Amino acid sequence: MLEWKTNDALAVGKGATLQQFVATVGKDRLEAEISPWGEGQLKINGREIAHINDAKDRRQAFRAIKLIAERYVETHMNKDAAPMLPAVKAKLLEGKKGLIVGIANDKSIAWGCAKAFRAFGAEVAVTYLNDKAKKFVEPLARALEAPIFMPLDVSVAGQMEAVFQRISKEWGKLDYLVHSIAFSPKEALQGRVVDVSREGFATTMDVSCWTFIRMAHLAEPLMKKGGTLFTMSYYGSQMVVKNYNIMGVAKAALECTVRYLAAELGPKGIRVHAISPGPLATRAASGIPEFDALLDKAKAQAPARSLVSIDDVGVATAFLAHDAARLITGETLYVDGGYHIMD
Ligand SMILES: NC(=O)c1ccc[n+]([C@@H]2O[C@H](COP(=O)([O-])OP(=O)(O)OC[C@H]3O[C@@H](n4cnc5c(N)ncnc54)[C@H](O)[C@@H]3O)[C@@H](O)[C@H]2O)c1
Repeated sequence: MLEWKTNDALAVGKGATLQQFVATVGKDRLEAEISPWGEGQLKINGREIAHINDAKDRRQAFRAIKLIAERYVETHMNKDAAPMLPAVKAKLLEGKKGLIVGIANDKSIAWGCAKAFRAFGAEVAVTYLNDKAKKFVEPLARALEAPIFMPLDVSVAGQMEAVFQRISKEWGKLDYLVHSIAFSPKEALQGRVVDVSREGFATTMDVSCWTFIRMAHLAEPLMKKGGTLFTMSYYGSQMVVKNYNIMGVAKAALECTVRYLAAELGPKGIRVHAISPGPLATRAASGIPEFDALLDKAKAQAPARSLVSIDDVGVATAFLAHDAARLITGETLYVDGGYHIMD
């Protein structure tokens, strides 16, 4: 339970326009700013985390912000148990072995997935893009106790095959795969879809979509007792999202691919899903102009009034890899605080 104190620096009481409350968690400072007309804002260390503007009055707004803050602290700031991996008592994925492609650093969605799978007891094989990326990924792979750590640039012939060969030799099986990569050349991504070059289109589709098909092809013989394949998509596949451009086209193809693969591989017990997270400030996202506006909009409009974290995405993904989810396949699962249901 957080202890909120009024900020004496601001005017308080009935007549005050804004009321500010402060709570601390370790070294982190939480600020709740509440207006009399039911608007509320939550900031952590000066960064806005949530914003609500539909409460009836000041009291309701404060109650809502307090709830959001408590949930946030519980899921994102409880660092007591383990510095890297969340402490989970139930090893729900014990015995499962999987490959996670797409960790660039500790902000990557793939890292959120890897942490969750590992915390639930699964083993994780990890790849890194190239030597430049290796130094960022290596400590993370160590924290995961990854028995397989290999380079994988999908545009380099043979590297993908080498990873699957090693998995076959070392594990003889694969239970899950997380494909969390996308790429589009800057001119293609930042221009209009109507202007995209053949080359820009081909590269975008190749790295962001075809590689998932190829990984599924290579995983199939290793999933003799079934398994789950995951890829990461985004809402810009369904709706025209400003600045998402050609990546939206690639994600639409990716989600469609998920359905075809699910139908083709389902009889073998292999399930296939796209996970569609809300916007997250990762390296890939930095290639999208005005990304901050996307974050602000998500925060303001999502029913949860909160941005998602890579841990939220990781846990949802890990859940779908559990045998209890064996009859769920072909889905695009939104982990976006409900943003996609709003008009
Ligand atoms: N960040 C978001 O807001 C968001 C939202 C929804 C979906 N996604 C998707 O999530 C996935 C992961 O992105 P992220 O946001 O975690 O960013 P990120 O930059 O952390 O990850 C992108 C990964 O793609 C890898 N990659 C790019 N080209 C590659 C190549 N040729 N070979 C191998 N790997 C390559 C990079 O090395 C990196 O690890 C992407 O598919 C992205 O489109 C991101």
